[in-house]
Amino acid sequence: MSNPLSDRIKSLPVSQTLAMAAKARELKTAGKDIISLSLGEPDFNTPDFIKNAAIEAINQDYNSYTPVDGYVELKEAICVKFKRDNALNYNPNQIVVSTGAKQSIANIAQVLLNPGDDVLLPAPYWVSYSAIATLCEANFIEIPSSIENDFKITPAQLEAAITPNTKMIFFNSPNNPSGTIYSEQEYRDLAKVLEKHPKIFILSDEIYEHINYGEKPFSFAAIENMFDRTITVNGLAKAFAMTGWRIGYIGGPEWIAKACTKMQGQITSGTNCIAQRAAITAVLADPSEVQFMVNEFKNRRDMVLDLLGKINGFKLNTPPGAFYVLPDISTFFGKIIKGQLINNANDFSMLLLEKANVATVTGEAFGAPNCIRLSYAASVEQLQEAIKRIKNVLS
Ligand SMILES: Cc1ncc(COP(=O)(O)O)c(C=O)c1O
Repeated sequence: MSNPLSDRIKSLPVSQTLAMAAKARELKTAGKDIISLSLGEPDFNTPDFIKNAAIEAINQDYNSYTPVDGYVELKEAICVKFKRDNALNYNPNQIVVSTGAKQSIANIAQVLLNPGDDVLLPAPYWVSYSAIATLCEANFIEIPSSIENDFKITPAQLEAAITPNTKMIFFNSPNNPSGTIYSEQEYRDLAKVLEKHPKIFILSDEIYEHINYGEKPFSFAAIENMFDRTITVNGLAKAFAMTGWRIGYIGGPEWIAKACTKMQGQITSGTNCIAQRAAITAVLADPSEVQFMVNEFKNRRDMVLDLLGKINGFKLNTPPGAFYVLPDISTFFGKIIKGQLINNANDFSMLLLEKANVATVTGEAFGAPNCIRLSYAASVEQLQEAIKRIKNVLS
């Protein structure tokens, strides 16, 4: 008899990024020299000034439960950050601190979505959005894009995707997996469509905000008449190399913030007290403190684009942010490479893992079925070696 698991968990897909990581680990354990370009985390250490703030908090005996929505000093610091970086005026009652931006997003979905609601996902999108919508028994509706238009959707596409049941749309700029950044004008054009549909809420995931190579990302909530129905999500994981510290936060309408607090009050309570104290230092720091990482990512991006551009069949664009490239590799579909028929991006990604010993992630996971995602959050030597191996397998 199969285990009597709930329908809820049975309906949840296994994360394809984690599946690839597990397969890569399995091959590594079997003695294979795998280079992983499948990771979504910076390969830097958390800056010392943030680590020192955490050590100080331990020595000052911060060890009790915190307010469910976060320390008030942290919420005040987040308001300062929102004003400084995003021209957004939130007050502390509109802020909720959570255990990573992932929990922030899950909270928002849980408090706004009913079974049968439609959620719009401009593709490509981060893998967890669709799973989080599925857990709320909502339907997710993909809005496709392609490398030809830099993986951006158009206002006409947005208009066409809206149904009477549409409750939310997820925006993510800079984007995982494409690195795309929507300009202020592009966001304003999309907002014009949403103006006609006042019942739709906007989740704007800005976690890669600081990892941009020129064009400063624009916050959707900064559009005057969108502020009251946009929830801005951010966190410390990516810009401050703090993935394991698990700090995410939102700014949004107070009634949504209250509901999120109620939700996490029953599930996780306030997030880790030491990480919260260190987060005060991180969010108040001038973003120039982490510019060295951004500069390094840009150098690697340029190198990766140059090297991949020399491989026949890789269609590339120039992602202006995050730390991923999402080449279109559909020209390989239908071909036999090293004895393997490549039907789709899953097959291609598996070929690279098995024959080149390089772990990537299939675009199928992100609603980009013609593509694979490579993360350049790896050392220059690893990136050079990985692309050399890919080239050898394909030539
Ligand atoms: C687009 C996007 N949003 C949110 C998250 C989750 O961030 P956190 O680690 O703070 O939960 C990630 C992590 O990969 C991400 O890529």
